[in-house]
Amino acid sequence: MTEPEDTQQAEQPTRVRVTGDGPVVLARAADVAHVYRAAFCAPGSDEPASAVDRFRDEQLPAHTQRAGFRCALADRRGLLTGFAYGYTGEHGQWWTDHVAARVPPEVVEEWLGGHFELVELAVDPTHQRRGLGEELMTRLLEGLPHTRALLTTYRDDRPATRLYRRLGWKLLAEHALEGSDLYGVDLQK
Ligand SMILES: CC(C)(COP(=O)(O)OP(=O)(O)OC[C@H]1O[C@@H](n2cnc3c(N)ncnc32)[C@H](O)[C@@H]1OP(=O)(O)O)[C@@H](O)C(=O)NCCC(=O)NCCS
Repeated sequence: MTEPEDTQQAEQPTRVRVTGDGPVVLARAADVAHVYRAAFCAPGSDEPASAVDRFRDEQLPAHTQRAGFRCALADRRGLLTGFAYGYTGEHGQWWTDHVAARVPPEVVEEWLGGHFELVELAVDPTHQRRGLGEELMTRLLEGLPHTRALLTTYRDDRPATRLYRRLGWKLLAEHALEGSDLYGVDLQK
């Protein structure tokens, strides 16, 4: 006897796919922006709605063209439930130059330039607290050719900060950007 359809659907696992193909990700820009809105405009994050439009129309198209672009997409029953992406960060780019101006010279020397820059990570709130954020991060960094990865994140204790620490990211410098600290991980270890 076959199981009822909704039971089968309930058991469908989340599938995480990693791609370096910018146009593939851009083809899903509306879904990615939907998850971005759900995660970042939720109470506690409180990004303005205008940030979502800027993300979808400017940031994402620009970043998909950067060298080393790589994105992890999580789907469940054909719906995007989370994503994470980054690219190769270099001096001369906005983020690297802003961070370099604010952190100690030894951090600049050792960590900045040619690093993998984790730019965004978001999981739809209805799918959070099931290990998806951890899986997206792990899959995104798996097998990267870079020796170091960097990110900036909130200064206060939040799910994102706890997740990065749990995965071995180290605090490298406080106040690396407004309201954010710089974290790094050695990918060779
Ligand atoms: C940060 C974020 C991506 C984490 O996503 P997530 O899928 O909930 O991540 P995980 O499930 O791997 O871990 C989150 C928590 O759930 C817990 N958890 C994981 N699996 C679980 C399970 N099966 N049962 C119960 N709890 C579980 C983890 O231990 C962790 O607990 P903690 O926050 O107390 O340390 C998500 O909170 C988010 O989108 N936040 C808003 C956007 C954001 O801040 N992005 C990062 C910007 S730098």
